[in-house]
Amino acid sequence: MEAFHGQFYMRGEFREKYVVVDRGVIVDIKDEKPDTSVTSIPGHVLPGGVDMHVHFRDPGENEKEDFRTGSLSAISGGTTTVCDMPNNRIPITDITTFRSKLSAIGSRSFVDFGLYQAASKEIVPDAIGQKIFLGKSTGGLLTEVDKCIWQDKVKVVHGELQECIENNARENDSLVSHDMSRPLECELEAIEGMFKFRLEKVHMAHLTSLRSLEFAKSLGFTTEVTPHHILLNSSANISSLGKVNPPLRKKSIQEELLGNLESRAIDVIASDHAPHTLKDKEVFRDAPSGLPGVETRVPLILSSYRKGLISLKKAISSMMERPAEICRINKGYIEKGFDADFISINFREIGRIKGEDLHSKCGWTPFENFEGIFPKLVFLRGELVVQEGEAVSSSSGVFLNAKEQ
Ligand code: DOR
Ligand code: ZN
Repeated sequence: MEAFHGQFYMRGEFREKYVVVDRGVIVDIKDEKPDTSVTSIPGHVLPGGVDMHVHFRDPGENEKEDFRTGSLSAISGGTTTVCDMPNNRIPITDITTFRSKLSAIGSRSFVDFGLYQAASKEIVPDAIGQKIFLGKSTGGLLTEVDKCIWQDKVKVVHGELQECIENNARENDSLVSHDMSRPLECELEAIEGMFKFRLEKVHMAHLTSLRSLEFAKSLGFTTEVTPHHILLNSSANISSLGKVNPPLRKKSIQEELLGNLESRAIDVIASDHAPHTLKDKEVFRDAPSGLPGVETRVPLILSSYRKGLISLKKAISSMMERPAEICRINKGYIEKGFDADFISINFREIGRIKGEDLHSKCGWTPFENFEGIFPKLVFLRGELVVQEGEAVSSSSGVFLNAKEQ
């Protein structure tokens, strides 16, 4: 048993408390000093970040990323839990591929992690949820939704309708033409198409406009946006580094999203961390879609809070609480029964994001020179794992099963 003392974010405000932790789990929260060793945490203490949408490329494409570098990048940016996508070189569609992915990851993760399966004719009981591709993206997976078997777990949908993508296909050599080749209507059609399947626990990933978020919410889905769709648009001067599916949209759509971050139509802000090498990105037309973001998600949104673009309550619900609830894991809250994952923040210390300082293997960011508030300290299940931007522990992340209901 040990205790942590500090200003903890609890139910919407900071409270000075002693948080008692036993074997990594919060067992008590007290006003008075308990009779056990106490570690003081400076600054404001938030729950560790939960990123329910990352692509760590392991196994199969380790020149872009692996679980060690991806998870190091995550904890360095205040994210202590990730859920990793199944579009590996060999897609994760069944128990055999799932097991071999888990054993390839081994004990190399610095963060706790769940793994999705691609929705298929086989159920993987240990998967955190199922991924549905309604349109092809990097990796080329396409889900035959009516032939799949379902679990009572989250179903994360890549919502761009394949038929619509094919109808709009064109040579694309810029962010503007990439947007035209996969227009917003493909997203709206996918949301509508998903409704027809009458599935439970549908989560629409990386929606790109306020209109799509409100539409998805009105149909009973949970929703997700990314920092890149909130903060970047197709006029950004970043060429193929901004090539991503779904595409960055035009400025007016992005600014409407940025102006409505408090909307109830937004459940989750996830990174969709999808690194590719700079070499892959050399020629726009041939460049694969995807960009890194797991390390910059929490810092960018905390800095948006400082600028008055989002409330702290919404930042924490969308980056910690809601993703943990949707994936059914004991994370995201500083409360009894939850894992003791903490990040300590000094809101006055605003840094600048530099690709060369980040820990992803790809070595670049589309947010070069953006402001970010990085955590000073990071604790995973009560253990100090990051201090002043440096990892100070070995990789101690564990595999998370989704709770059975
Ligand atoms: O841009 C994207 N990149 N969108 C996806 O859906 C997949 C991702 C990747 O894995 O690179
Ligand atoms: Zn993705």
